[in-house]
Amino acid sequence: MGIMKTRITELLEVEHPIVQGGMQQIGRAELASAVSNAGGLGILTGLTQPTPQELKTEIERCRSMTDKPFGVNMTVFPTINSPDYKAYAQAIIDMGIKVVETAGTPAVVELWDMFKAANIRIVHKCTSVRHALSAERKGVDAISIDGFECAGHPGEDDIPGLILIPAAADKVKIPMLASGGFGDGRGLVAALALGAEGINMGTRFCATVEAPIHPNVKQAYIANDERGTNLIFRKLHNTARVGKSAVSDKVVEILARPDSAFEDVAPYVAGVKGRELLETGDLDVGIFWAGMVQGLIHDVPTCKELIDRIMAEADAIISQRLAGFRAA
Ligand SMILES: Cc1cc2nc3c(=O)[nH]c(=O)nc-3n(C[C@H](O)[C@H](O)[C@H](O)COP(=O)(O)O)c2cc1C
Repeated sequence: MGIMKTRITELLEVEHPIVQGGMQQIGRAELASAVSNAGGLGILTGLTQPTPQELKTEIERCRSMTDKPFGVNMTVFPTINSPDYKAYAQAIIDMGIKVVETAGTPAVVELWDMFKAANIRIVHKCTSVRHALSAERKGVDAISIDGFECAGHPGEDDIPGLILIPAAADKVKIPMLASGGFGDGRGLVAALALGAEGINMGTRFCATVEAPIHPNVKQAYIANDERGTNLIFRKLHNTARVGKSAVSDKVVEILARPDSAFEDVAPYVAGVKGRELLETGDLDVGIFWAGMVQGLIHDVPTCKELIDRIMAEADAIISQRLAGFRAA
């Protein structure tokens, strides 16, 4: 298996250009350490921990499981009762973390200032070229550009990766990770061809041995094909891509009614319900985040098996399949 060197592997000080994106409830030490041990960059999700102090404990726990670098995600949500983001950021700084992944509303800029002052490298995840350029101007170190295929919040522009990644690569100068829809070596090579220097994956890492969720949910990712997602909250301009299920179908149906509002679906989409789903494996209690890449997920490997497989596949595609197309 060839070694790949890109500006992303250099910046993040990792062996392979593969990052595990922040994932609420799933980005815990078990998964982040497994990804980092396999040569990628594992990421703890800051707000999965109820307090900044507990985030510090989780960082310590992750350090006890890997001596490789890992990052922490900070997602700034557009909610009224916000957590104390700055206290979480301070915990990350105090613990000597070297890389953060940020996402969310423009209020994230305040955290960038704190991270930059502490010499922490910032990978900012966003869903449009204009937001990528704005983040670059404000001094982040890398962009993770999330196409319409992605699990979580794809934004409102609906631009798939095949266009978004090269459109961003034409303008953004700092290194870029391609995100949304990646799950195998073909995707990695495509991302590199489109102008990115690595990939970020969410859904694919949920279906791994180390992902700390119920096996039923991992099986749901396998059972769903590329059509197995729903877009919810469209009319609230906070679009979210989640796994297709009886519950998310219901949410779509309710929000399609002209007079419906968030309150009508709140019981179905509550974070506490989603957490219960991940813990019990009961897909009828809430919603779960998932991307279209489910259509490419057919097994539950360890993170090491997955990353090794992606790298070997990418290597073979570059050296054999693509090289084979060259006319003599
Ligand atoms: C279960 C799950 C939870 C997620 N939670 C977050 C989150 O809290 N913050 C965030 O920035 N992104 C979150 N994401 C998005 C991922 O970090 C990543 O950008 C996305 O999954 C990439 O698309 P993919 O699923 O097609 O790989 C989540 C994704 C999943 C699958």
